[in-house]
Amino acid sequence: MEDPWQQCMDAAVQLVLRAGQIVRKALAEEKRVSTKTTVVDLVTETDQFVEELLISSLKEKFPSHKFIGEESTSAGSKCILTDCPTWIIDPIDGTCNFVHRFPLVAVSIGFAVNQELEFGVIYHCTEERLYTGRKGQGAFCNGQRLQVSKVTDISNALVLTEIGTKRDPATLKLFFSNMEKILKFQAHGVRIIGSSTLALCYVASGAADAYYQFGLHCWDLAAATVIIREAGGTVIDTSGGPLDLMSCRVVAAGTKELAMLIAQELQTIQYGRDDEN
Ligand code: IPD
Repeated sequence: MEDPWQQCMDAAVQLVLRAGQIVRKALAEEKRVSTKTTVVDLVTETDQFVEELLISSLKEKFPSHKFIGEESTSAGSKCILTDCPTWIIDPIDGTCNFVHRFPLVAVSIGFAVNQELEFGVIYHCTEERLYTGRKGQGAFCNGQRLQVSKVTDISNALVLTEIGTKRDPATLKLFFSNMEKILKFQAHGVRIIGSSTLALCYVASGAADAYYQFGLHCWDLAAATVIIREAGGTVIDTSGGPLDLMSCRVVAAGTKELAMLIAQELQTIQYGRDDEN
């Protein structure tokens, strides 16, 4: 049977490659930087330009579809996932990296129908790596099939996390306490790379064993979730329950055992929900 969403996935691939070229070129140039929810939640004209390009191009092709975008949400659009075919877009993931010319930046497009993620497309702009995942059809990076790692213990794991955008003392205390717990289990290492989307792609590739974060958003998570699941991995809520895309919290790992062990250790950091703003 023909894949009803293939045409959408093809369009997403074409667009992330085009957007990636724009981001790559802009990385080296001067940027006008503004802040959003906190002084470390950054946005540039390129984030806004790329989101506008992606949404307007997709709307032209698929006029009945819905859109959730990082910068449109910041500008006041509602962030609600309905049963309609919905595109979930991060025009530049790793904006802080982008501002500093730190080369871990990505464009991410996820697509959901009936609130189920159908495919994800992520482009690591500087390394020209295209990650794709289609429900039931596997995950790939530049055409090579992805496979997660088989590590089941924290003590054998390389774990990735991100700080999020809050810097108040209570949040930082919890952040470091969570990291300390993972380190006390003698994890091989903990890394913070500045792009939750790419961190999740490293889990999908087996280059890292697990990832957890409080304070990421549905546009950081949508595309990567399909890619990790299709690479054989697990993506769950930090409570150990099923993932809730709008809850701003996640644990992902190559194995369910490792994801559950990490979830058990984490203390919740409150960030609210994407669909309540
Ligand atoms: C952010 C990055 C960062 C993570 C934040 C995200 P953005 O996305 O992924 O690593 O800590 O929680 O919101 O703003 O660069 O698209």
